[in-house]
Amino acid sequence: MEPPFPVSPSVFEQLQGQGLTRRGFLQFCASMAALLALPASAAKTIEEALTTRARPSVIWISIQECTGCSESLLRSFEPTLEGLILDQFSLDYHHVLQAAAGKAAEAARDSAIKRNYGKYVLVVDGGITAGADGALSTTGGRSGLEILKTSAEGAALIIAVGSCAAFGGIPAAAPNPTQATGTAQALQVLRDQGRVKAPIINVPGCPPVPEVMTAVIVNFLTFGKPPPLDDLLRPLPFFGRTVHDDCPRLPFYNEGLFAKSFDDEGARKGYCLKDLGCKGPTTYNACTTVQWNQATGFPMKAGHGCLGCSQPGFWDRKGGFYGRLF
Ligand code: SF4
Ligand code: F3S
Repeated sequence: MEPPFPVSPSVFEQLQGQGLTRRGFLQFCASMAALLALPASAAKTIEEALTTRARPSVIWISIQECTGCSESLLRSFEPTLEGLILDQFSLDYHHVLQAAAGKAAEAARDSAIKRNYGKYVLVVDGGITAGADGALSTTGGRSGLEILKTSAEGAALIIAVGSCAAFGGIPAAAPNPTQATGTAQALQVLRDQGRVKAPIINVPGCPPVPEVMTAVIVNFLTFGKPPPLDDLLRPLPFFGRTVHDDCPRLPFYNEGLFAKSFDDEGARKGYCLKDLGCKGPTTYNACTTVQWNQATGFPMKAGHGCLGCSQPGFWDRKGGFYGRLF
């Protein structure tokens, strides 16, 4: 399936305008192929797609969120997601980043939807406020729920970024006073009616790993469809393994060597953090493989257990963040 995007100027032409060299571009394509667990030959396909296809329009709506996901994504590696999205992917509307405000900003979103109907990528961050018919979270006098529904009908792809947009997240923590929920659930009726046809991809995490978002968009630009997804709509190349599977503390786990406090000798020796509440064995994410901050670290490398932030309901888990899994 060909993506419904126009062909000029291409993403690469836009990137060149930002000073990206041909070599840097090819390295980027190769790293995207590797991240998406594709054969090395797929780098050529990605290169061709980004060389011949124009940037898609991106409309980014925020509902009950803390801006942490935007903050995280703007710290992606070169070419930065900021560069890709803001300069190359033609970000037409972003609650947090746009210069426009008030009625002008709302008009920009509506006009982008109209201009690019059926072709744009809709990015959602924040939990969807379903209570009181959405009235507990509004922008420009319209509820987030209504904005989501009207924006979703014309989208070619929907990405729910962060655990709030994917599963309800912190706003959905008990007693969930706003009846916050995830994007796919909030759109279920419209999807059943065939009014929302775009595939939905969940990229959970609190916040999500930035490179996953870049790779998901590049995959869509290249192949016109999402990568394989798990039963929670998460891209399998990044959510197919637990963070425990690739944790450097795993040898200690296998030997039964566990730190008992964050400053004991075991902790200093790098022992497993299971007894300090690590949720790694039941948490699917790419933290231990892709890592964070230009691949320099992740929670267990920094001495703290995984909180399970990419799993539904991690905020209400029995025993809290520091209770043992087993
Ligand atoms: Fe698994 Fe956590 Fe121990 Fe790492 S620290 S081996 S993720 S339980
Ligand atoms: Fe979240 Fe665990 Fe990764 S807390 S950031 S999924 S290691």
